[in-house]
Amino acid sequence: MARHLITSAIPYINGIKHLGNLVGSQLPADLYARYLRRRGNEVLFLCATDEHGTPAELAAAKAGKPVADYCAEMHAVQAEIADGFRLSFDHFGRSSSDQNHRLTQHFAARLADADLIREVSETQMYSKADGRFLPDRYIEGTCPNCGFDSARGDQCDNCTKQLDPVDLINPHSTISGSTDLEMRETKHLYLRQSQMKDQLEEWIDTREGWPVLTTSIAKKWLNDGDGLQDRGITRDLDWGIPVKRGESDWPGMEGKVFYVWFDAPIEYIACAQEWVDAGKGADWERWWRTDKGADDVTYTQFMGKDNVPFHTLSFPATILGSGEPWKLVDYIKSFNYLNYDGGQFSTSRGRGVFMDQALEILPADYWRWWLLSHVPETSDSEFTWESFQSGVNKDLADVLGNFVSRVTKFCRSKFGEVVPEGGDLGAPEKALIATLQDRLTAYQSHMDSIEIRKAAVELRAIWVAGNEYLQEAAPWSTFKNDPEAAAAQIRFALNLIPFYAVLSAPFIPDAAARMLVDMKADDCAWPASVEEALTQLKAGHAFTVPEVLFAKITDEQREDWQQRFAGKRN
Ligand code: 2FM
Ligand code: ZN
Repeated sequence: MARHLITSAIPYINGIKHLGNLVGSQLPADLYARYLRRRGNEVLFLCATDEHGTPAELAAAKAGKPVADYCAEMHAVQAEIADGFRLSFDHFGRSSSDQNHRLTQHFAARLADADLIREVSETQMYSKADGRFLPDRYIEGTCPNCGFDSARGDQCDNCTKQLDPVDLINPHSTISGSTDLEMRETKHLYLRQSQMKDQLEEWIDTREGWPVLTTSIAKKWLNDGDGLQDRGITRDLDWGIPVKRGESDWPGMEGKVFYVWFDAPIEYIACAQEWVDAGKGADWERWWRTDKGADDVTYTQFMGKDNVPFHTLSFPATILGSGEPWKLVDYIKSFNYLNYDGGQFSTSRGRGVFMDQALEILPADYWRWWLLSHVPETSDSEFTWESFQSGVNKDLADVLGNFVSRVTKFCRSKFGEVVPEGGDLGAPEKALIATLQDRLTAYQSHMDSIEIRKAAVELRAIWVAGNEYLQEAAPWSTFKNDPEAAAAQIRFALNLIPFYAVLSAPFIPDAAARMLVDMKADDCAWPASVEEALTQLKAGHAFTVPEVLFAKITDEQREDWQQRFAGKRN
C-alpha cells in the first residue's frame, strides 16, 4: 500500500471563501485524496485555517471581536462548510495551534543556528494617524512592477510579485486611509534565501514532471532581477507567533511576531501533530520525517498560482535550511483563477457565490461536479449560470441520473426490485465492456497524473457509454418478444450502477453513496477489471429504486440566482 500525504493551501481565516477559492485548492485536493483512498492507498489529507497576519486582525476589528475569539469562531464556521462540501480532511487544523507555535519557533532557531537569519535594522512605514507601523496589508499602493493600483504591501494580486511595503508607489494606510506616513526605524529578522539560491534551484531542477505553471513561476522568482531576495520573516503585529529562538527569548525582538507566510506552511507539519494530539492518528513523524519512514511518502500540495512562490522557494528554504530530515514536497499542483460571470469573484465586494450560499441553494455534488469539470487547470476559467445549469442538467440529470432511474424503474416494473436472471452476455455487452475497459484505463491515468478536466471528460464518457448501450439494447422493446434476453440486458445495466458509483465517488461522493446504498452494494471496491465488476450483482440480488439523484435547474432558478449573486453579499 503506497502512502500519500496531501495538503491543500490553508485558507485565510477572514471570512467565508467563495467558489473560486474552493476550486483553487481544497476541492481538487479532496478529489485526489478520495481517489487515492479508493484505490487502496494510505492517505493523510490535511488542511487548516491560516489565522495570523493582517487579514485576521483587520477582519476581527471589523467584526468588533478580540482576534483570538474571531479566529475560533471562524474556524468552526469554515470547518462546518468544508464538511458540507464533503471535503474529507483527515484533520482541519489551525495555524494558531500550540503545535505550530512550537514548531515555527523551532524552525527559526534551526535557521538562526545555521546562520541563515540576519537581523536588519530598517526603516518602515509608520502611520501617525494610526499610531503604529503598517505592515503588509495595512498598506496599499501602486505596484512598482506592473502598475496595478491596489497592490498590497506583501504581494501584488495582479502580477503575483512578492513585495515589501516600502516598494509601493503612493502608499496609504488601509486602516485610516491616511497618506501621512513616515519611515521609522525598527528591527526585523530576514531569512537569507539568497544564500540558498543554488540549493533551491538544484532542488527545483530535479523535480520530475512538475506542471509548467509551477516551475515557470518558481524559476521566474528565482532569477528575477538580482535573483532570490532575502525575506523579512517578522512583523510589528500583536497577533501571531511571538518571535522566539526555540524556547528562548530573542533579544531585540520583543513584541514582534513571525510573518504569517513564515508560519503558515509550517502548519502543514503542525497539522499532522494536531491530528495525532486529537487522537485521530498514532504517528505523525512517519509522514513528515524522512528518518522516520517518510521517505516512502509521496507528498502532493494543491494551491492557487499566487501561492506558488511561497511553496517552491520560501517554504523549501525553511525546510532545507533547517538541516533536518523533513519531507519535501514531491509534486505541486497549482491552479489559475476562476472568474465569475464576466468579472472576478470579489470577497470585498461580495461578488460571486460564497461557499455557504452555494450549499443553501443546491447540494454539494452539483457544485463539485461543475467546479471540478471546469477547474482552471491550464488557463483561467469562468463560472456562468448558463454553463452551471447546463453542466448539472445535461451531465448529472440527463446522463447519469437518467440512466440510473430508467434502468431501476424498468426493472421494478417488469421483474421487481431484484436483479433478474436472464441469459449470458451477448456481443453488445462484451463490446461495451471492452470500451469501458479502455476508458477506465484512461480515467485512472488522468486521475493519477491529476489532470482533472481530462478525468472529468472521461468519466462523463463512461456514463454516456451506458446510456448509449441502453438506447441501443432497448430492453423495453426486447421484452415484448424475448423477456429472458431483456432480463440479461437489465441485469447487465443494473451492474453498471455500482460501477459508476465507485468511479464517480471522488467527484460526487453523496450521489455515489446513495447509489451504492440503494443497490445494496456499498462494499463495492474499485474495479480491477470491468468484466468482473459488471458481473458482481448476481440474479436474485435485491435493490431499491433510488430517489431522483439530481433535480434539474430551471430557467427561473437560474435567473433568480444570477440576480441574487451579482451584487453585494447580504
Ligand atoms: O493564499 C492563501 O489563501 C493563503 N492563506 C495560503 C497559505 S498556504 C500555506 F502556506 F499554508
Ligand atoms: Zn504588480
